[in-house]
Amino acid sequence: MVTLSIDGRQVRAQAGSTILEVAREKGIDIPTLCYHEGLEPYGACRLCMVEITKNGYSKLVASCLYPIEEGLVVKTDTERVINVRRTVMELLLARCPNSDVVWDLARKVGVESTPFKSLAEDESNKCILCGLCVRACEEVVGVSAISLVNRGVEREVAPPFYESPEACIGCGSCAYVCPTGAIEMEEVGDTRTIRSRDWKSEFKLKKCKVCGSYWAPERQLDYFAKKANLPGDFFDVCPTCRE
Ligand code: SF4
Ligand code: FES
Repeated sequence: MVTLSIDGRQVRAQAGSTILEVAREKGIDIPTLCYHEGLEPYGACRLCMVEITKNGYSKLVASCLYPIEEGLVVKTDTERVINVRRTVMELLLARCPNSDVVWDLARKVGVESTPFKSLAEDESNKCILCGLCVRACEEVVGVSAISLVNRGVEREVAPPFYESPEACIGCGSCAYVCPTGAIEMEEVGDTRTIRSRDWKSEFKLKKCKVCGSYWAPERQLDYFAKKANLPGDFFDVCPTCRE
């Protein structure tokens, strides 16, 4: 166990935890945009910055990446921290001026407008480049169908060549995890569509042999059947009818 101080409170926590994990465990709020407890931290958004003091020196660190240390002094609401959070939100507002999620979070940290020129050629851009979709696809699903491509203001999430990715199984993890709705998923009849601003993929849904409902993409079910070595007809019946 490690003892540290967060906002003047002495806390004890498991060695190896990050500052963010410990703060959240103790009910101390640190805003985040690229963190998800089920995925490896990535340090992309910089919204979770906190001020630490060590050996008499203080500096700003990303709390989602920084492991706790014995005697560490952490402050989550200093002027420096608040200024960084506001700047991050102002930059995100310039990138995604029409994202309600970004506006909500901006207001939460006291930002009502941005001094930065809009970075968005297309103001419908909702992607904040948090990388959650890319990490979910790689770490949880294990297929890496999408990645972050290009540089600077051109940076975005896309499948190879912006075409419907062959590796994608249509599970929709990217859409579920996306905090801003930049990746959307809808099902109409026997088809699931997953789309962002620049690309879209369609997946045929499997029909249950008992109730006749369309319940999951065939590609996803084939992938699971292969991984788990299940018989070819295992998914002919939906989970509800199998009960
Ligand atoms: S598409 Fe969504 S999850 Fe993926 S990087 Fe953009 S905002 Fe994050
Ligand atoms: S949550 Fe830590 S950098 Fe995004």
